[in-house]
Amino acid sequence: MLTDLLIKNIKCLVQTEELPRLRICGSEMSGISSVNDAYLYINDGLIAEFGKMTDLQNNKKLIQDPKVKTIDAGERFVFPSFCDSHTHLVYSGSREIEYTDKIRGLSYGEIAKRGGGILNSSKRLHETSEDELFLQSVARINEIISLGTGAVEIKSGYGLNLADELKMLRVIRRIKATCPIEVKATFLGAHAIPEEYKNRREKYVDLVINEMIPVVASEELADFIDVFCDKGFFTVEDTERILMAGIKYGLTAKLHANELDYSGGIQTGVKYNALSVDHLEFTGEEEINSLLGSETMPTLLPGSAFFLGMADPPVRKMINAGLPVALASDYNPGSSPSGNMKLIMSLGCIKLKMLPEEVINAVTINSAYAMGISETHGSIAKGKVANVFITKKIPSYEFMPYAFGSNLIDTVILRGNVINTK
Ligand code: NIG
Ligand code: FE
Repeated sequence: MLTDLLIKNIKCLVQTEELPRLRICGSEMSGISSVNDAYLYINDGLIAEFGKMTDLQNNKKLIQDPKVKTIDAGERFVFPSFCDSHTHLVYSGSREIEYTDKIRGLSYGEIAKRGGGILNSSKRLHETSEDELFLQSVARINEIISLGTGAVEIKSGYGLNLADELKMLRVIRRIKATCPIEVKATFLGAHAIPEEYKNRREKYVDLVINEMIPVVASEELADFIDVFCDKGFFTVEDTERILMAGIKYGLTAKLHANELDYSGGIQTGVKYNALSVDHLEFTGEEEINSLLGSETMPTLLPGSAFFLGMADPPVRKMINAGLPVALASDYNPGSSPSGNMKLIMSLGCIKLKMLPEEVINAVTINSAYAMGISETHGSIAKGKVANVFITKKIPSYEFMPYAFGSNLIDTVILRGNVINTK
């Protein structure tokens, strides 16, 4: 249902744009535009107008129109909803046993070698019906909506055979059709090498290319194609073959790159004009130089580096070199069992030494870019989709990443509708 909605008495309307940009790079990331003592007018699910309360007082038409529903923000802040450009939130069950193994000292790689990790989730997913998988996934979607996320990218990659990859992608399609959040789907058939292909990796790559991609494309189940291009998973050569096949079918590349080593994944992503390359814990001069001048968004996932106790990517070097940076949650059962983007902002500040303004840009406009929707999402600009949230009472926008354990999201509005998040 589309309604007219006026939010008045906003203490601060954050991340406003008069001339919308597609992404924000380098030193510009430390700037945020905002309007104090503001109003926001939403019409037919889109942002129609915003400005100072003093200007609203002269707009009798808007204040007196009985069709316009009014919310008094009562001195609270309004932000554009978070865009989470990298998740694996369609999965079955959970992996807290491996979490305990990790506490006892096993590495992510060692757990994967023992048949844990992605293969463990793959086994569970195989045993779970599509309806049950949908129910488990929708619960996670409702959770992230209540935490302020208004757009999410979701990957397949726990199927690892045609039927189960399609099962995952159909669940993502059902979420797209039934939930108020914006959804983009990514085919990640090359997430891990299944047990039966253990010593025949090339044969599994052939299967992805010859049997999976054509069906995924013909059923229009994915927007993007991803490969885990890293040590112990898929090589640059495998990645190139898969990306070429996907691109032929109209799928845009997004890559898991350089999480476990200098894998060549970043350069490969740039070569194939990937929308984003993600993780990037192993990033040096060469990788930064390859990203400069490209259209590819470097995307960092501090939740997984934090959860796995891994080294952090050199984000200051990246921003100082003039690169844009996006942050995403990587919500998944193995390396980041959380889709809380406000916590991701805090990790960006605390672990990556990003400024509050930089993390706000990284979880809104730049992460919108990393999922191909920054023309319509990721900032408060006329004509953009009205996905916003009203905070609880806070003293400043810096308080959002600062108060790292508090839920400060009060009211969620998606496509102009107030969402019941209780
Ligand atoms: O992005 N790195 C690869 N894939 C996921 C982890 C998935 C899992 O462990 O289930 C990630 O961290
Ligand atoms: Fe991931």
